[in-house]
Amino acid sequence: MKIIKLSAIDSTNSFLKDLALTSTLENFTTVATDCQLNGRGQQGSSWESEPNKNLMFSVFLRFQSFEIAEKSYLNFAVSLAVYETLLAEKIPNIAIKWPNDILSGNKKICGILIENNLKGTEITSAVIGIGLNVNQIDFPATISKVSSLQLLCGKNFDRDILLEKIVFNLKRNIALLKAKEFYNLEAAYLDVLYKKNIPTMFKDHKNTLFMGMVVGISKEGKLQVALEDERVLEFGIKEISFL
Ligand code: BTN
Repeated sequence: MKIIKLSAIDSTNSFLKDLALTSTLENFTTVATDCQLNGRGQQGSSWESEPNKNLMFSVFLRFQSFEIAEKSYLNFAVSLAVYETLLAEKIPNIAIKWPNDILSGNKKICGILIENNLKGTEITSAVIGIGLNVNQIDFPATISKVSSLQLLCGKNFDRDILLEKIVFNLKRNIALLKAKEFYNLEAAYLDVLYKKNIPTMFKDHKNTLFMGMVVGISKEGKLQVALEDERVLEFGIKEISFL
């Protein structure tokens, strides 16, 4: 496996996206860093991570005949790769919070940023960015509901080995995706989805609180939430948050 290791970089996602513009990258080319100066998160947020403690890496994927309409399955394949790695490491109470945060209990331990390159109705390539809190034990007071593998298990983890394991699992899941085994990926994802079938308080984009229950994911990747009156509503990423 080709891993480019950088001691510091603004963002491994940005670096790999730029590299893909100027060279023909091998599938699964991976860039990892010990220190991200301008880590990027979902919806324009930033990703903060203490240098030399955690995993911050990006993987380049190339596709043929992969329709944008199937993009949820890429998300399932990626988040499951991290989930499966952490499960094998016996990290307690892990779940995937829609769309792709990995939690232990109600604390976030991993964030994923998938950036697709499109041509017409197809995804031709993608950069998968993964930030996993591994050995960090102090977090800024401003960040709540966050944890790390070390805090959860009371021991140090080898970051290089974890990286290899995640990419190994990612390769297997991407093979399933390319074989169009969508049903299996979706079933595995739904099986470990945070708060699935558990009555939960949500907040919509107008700040209205309501009780509902996660029941599934729509074809477009929206969260399906059943209400008390049994209606099922679908929400995009900016339209709902868990309380
Ligand atoms: C999130 O908001 O939860 C997604 C965070 C993704 C962070 C990772 S760290 C490696 C890669 N490079 C980035 O700039 N972001 C991703």
